[in-house]
Formats: sequence, structure tokens, C-alpha cells
Amino acid sequence: MEQKCRKCQNLGFIGAKDPHHYKFSQVEFCDCVLGLTEKAKWSYKAETVNDKYLKAGIPPLFHGRTLQDWDVSQKHVRAARNLIEYDKIVDPDLVESGIVSADDTRNSIYFFGDYGSRKTTLGCVILMRKIDQGKRCLYGVCDLVLEELKASKRFSSKESYPEVFRKYGDVDYLFLDEVGYAFQVGIDADAEISKSPIDEMTNASLKELTKLIDWRLMYMKPTILSSNLSIDNLRKVTKTNQLVDRLLDRYSIRPVGDENQRLVNYEAREVMAKNAAKGGKR
Ligand SMILES: Nc1ncnc2c1ncn2[C@@H]1O[C@H](COP(=O)(O)OP(=O)(O)O)[C@@H](O)[C@H]1O
Ligand SMILES: [Mg+2]
Ligand SMILES: [Zn+2]
Repeated sequence: MEQKCRKCQNLGFIGAKDPHHYKFSQVEFCDCVLGLTEKAKWSYKAETVNDKYLKAGIPPLFHGRTLQDWDVSQKHVRAARNLIEYDKIVDPDLVESGIVSADDTRNSIYFFGDYGSRKTTLGCVILMRKIDQGKRCLYGVCDLVLEELKASKRFSSKESYPEVFRKYGDVDYLFLDEVGYAFQVGIDADAEISKSPIDEMTNASLKELTKLIDWRLMYMKPTILSSNLSIDNLRKVTKTNQLVDRLLDRYSIRPVGDENQRLVNYEAREVMAKNAAKGGKR
């Protein structure tokens, strides 16, 4: 038989204040796994939604997140913290092995990891802390940003291409999420590199991304990229070295090794639902 949490009776919250009916800050969530899950679920409620973050394009789901949700001993988290605290990533690994000096000015990062490893959350946390510090930031799903850039070249476009380009090129911090997606149309990352060249549309996207990355490197503006593709697989889907070489040269490449948070949340909800059903029969 499953153990009931004595503190919250498997409700996730303590006392009568059901999060459905009260403000997030008024509810006392339990510190058990169900409580944490409930808390995560409700943390995006109205009062955590922040106009400044919304204007930067950051999805409301992430507005309540902070770096405190992470284990700072993990390297990718440390990189995020360094970026937040002093605008550059001194990659401890590379410094130790003598590849970069401690005063390396590297300030851009490529996070890669599985679906659910909290890449989007972590990138958004960096942006939000930068917004708190008064920096101009933008979040965008990579594919959509690239489509926006390409569409702005049509003469019917409201904004001109240079305007759109400078919007993403000049912002203090840019987070392009899901970098692999734009190039994965019908391509399996694990498959061998196919001999056929990538199609024209995809090639145009790749050009735009490379241009944007170059521009931001020249102006020394930090960029955060996230992807489910390792560098090797990114090389495969882009079928060229031009993008990955820049990343290897000037970015900090950080695998995100969290367990799948979506699965954790899902499983906790399952248990909760089962227990609720059991309780109902009694
Ligand atoms: N500290 C946390 N506790 C519980 N759930 C979290 C926490 N941080 C993030 N999540 C949730 O985990 C899920 C996966 O995170 P996400 O950043 O979208 O992963 P990825 O971008 O790597 O696929 C999201 O639904 C997010 O809201
Ligand atoms: Mg994501
Ligand atoms: Zn509990």
C-alpha cells in the first residue's frame, strides 16, 4: 500500500487553502514531492507573470523560476550562474585543462540535452535575472525567429529586414530555443550524413542563423542557444561545419544532465491521482 504524506494527506498543500481558489502566495505547499509538483504547477499563476518578462517574449510558465531550483554543483548551472553574475562564462573545465585562460571573455552558451531536461527553463531564468538587472533581453524559438527574418525580406513585410535583424542582433541577451528544429525537417540526427544537400529553405535558415551568431559575436553580445542535439548531431543535420565551428570556437558547450523533469512531474501527478481515487472510494 502506498504511504500517505502525513503532512498534507497527499493533497500537496497544507490547510484548507486549495490553490484553485487562493492566490499562489497564500497557499502553503507541502515540501513532499507532491507538494513540490503542485507548487511547480501553480507557480505560473497571475502574480508571478511579469510584464517585463512577457515583453521579452518569455513564456509565462517560467516566470516564477529562479536559479535556486538548481544544483549549482552541476557545470551547466554554474555556467548559467556565472553569466548572470558577471556576464561571462569562465568554463571551469577549460580553464583547468589550460585550454582557456581564467580571463576568457566567452559569454555565449550552447545548452544541449534531452526533452524535459529543463533547458528552456534555465535559459529563461538567465534572461529574467538579466532583465532584473536592467538588460534588454529577447526569447525566441529559433525556427520562428529565422522564419521572421526570412519573411521580412518580402516587399510586403511591415518591418524591413534590417529592422528585424537588428532587433535580434542588438539586444543585450538573446535566447534562441530549440536550435535543432529548424534543420531537422525529415532528418534523423542519428542517421548517417546523407549525401543530398539540405534544401533551399533550410539553407536560407542556416545562413540567417550564422549571420546572427556572427553579428552578436562581433559585438560581444551574449547569446544562449538550446537544442536537443549534441554538437556532432548538429553538424549532421546542418550538413556543414560553418555553424558548429563557430560554436566550438566561441561558445561554451554545456550538456544538460538533469533527469526528465516532465516525467518526474507526470509520475508525481499519477501517484496523486491514484491516491485521490483510493481516498474517494473510502
Ligand atoms: N523546479 C521545477 N520543479 C518542477 N517542474 C519544473 C521545475 N523547473 C521546470 N519544471 C518543468 O519541467 C518541464 C520541463 O522543462 P523545460 O525547461 O521545458 O525542458 P526542456 O526545454 O529541456 O524540454 C516544464 O514543464 C517546466 O515547467
Ligand atoms: Mg524546451
Ligand atoms: Zn505532503
